[in-house]
Amino acid sequence: MSAHELAGRTALVTGASRGIGAATARALAGRGARVVAVARTATALEALAAELGHGALALPADLTRADECARVVQATRLALRGEPDILVHAAGSFPLAVVEATEDRAIDTALQLNVAAPLRLTRAFLAGMRSRGSGHVVTIGSVADRAVFPANATYAASKHAVRAMHETLRAESRGSGVRATLVSPAATDTALWDDHDPDGSAHLPSRAEMLHAADVADAVVWAVTRPAHVDVEELRIARS
Ligand SMILES: NC(=O)c1ccc[n+]([C@@H]2O[C@H](COP(=O)([O-])OP(=O)(O)OC[C@H]3O[C@@H](n4cnc5c(N)ncnc54)[C@H](OP(=O)(O)O)[C@@H]3O)[C@@H](O)[C@H]2O)c1
Repeated sequence: MSAHELAGRTALVTGASRGIGAATARALAGRGARVVAVARTATALEALAAELGHGALALPADLTRADECARVVQATRLALRGEPDILVHAAGSFPLAVVEATEDRAIDTALQLNVAAPLRLTRAFLAGMRSRGSGHVVTIGSVADRAVFPANATYAASKHAVRAMHETLRAESRGSGVRATLVSPAATDTALWDDHDPDGSAHLPSRAEMLHAADVADAVVWAVTRPAHVDVEELRIARS
């Protein structure tokens, strides 16, 4: 891949304050893309935007809220003078609880952040992408978008749902020039695991057994840098 492969292209990346989203923002900017970075933590986004260059923009927002999603859309359009070329849905919450211990707040957050926000943002940018005849929507799914594990009902439900969004988007986008790729990693060593002590639990993979955020970012960059006639439907990534 050339270092300037994405020069002149723009990308909106959610979950960009850390983990897979931040690694993806870095990888896209490393290819020359101008990145709009979205998450709640303004300080992390501002530091990232300064590091990325290429006119990167920090856009703090709470994507569990419909009005904040709408504000992100408006501010992005204004900054980029149109729709982003690449839209990466990486923000996510990862509740772990057996069904009977599942809390309302965890359900609400996971469904709003992991499902509703990708749908709202995609909905907002789709018409513009279609009329331009190009655009790439990358959704970070999970091994849990097809498989289920104990203590995983809320998360698996949200990831199965967002995979369904991705597949529907593809069905509706055929021939429009808009592409969509689902990138589904297995366990990846990020702060998402911090509340769950994976190294201290017999039921969870240790951090040493996990993928790195940069591995997932590589997959995203690979998908969005294929020639326009190549359609990457889905990438499923695990430790070898
Ligand atoms: N790590 C894994 O093992 C793994 C495996 C498969 C799939 N995934 C998926 O990969 C994606 C990224 O996960 P990660 O591992 O990078 O997790 P992470 O390190 O916990 O990062 C989550 C990101 O989402 C943002 N976020 C959380 N709540 C938000 C909100 N209400 N509004 C806006 N942004 C919010 C966080 O930023 P703020 O806190 O600053 O808002 C952060 O940037 C998620 O969709 C996750 O489900 C992860």
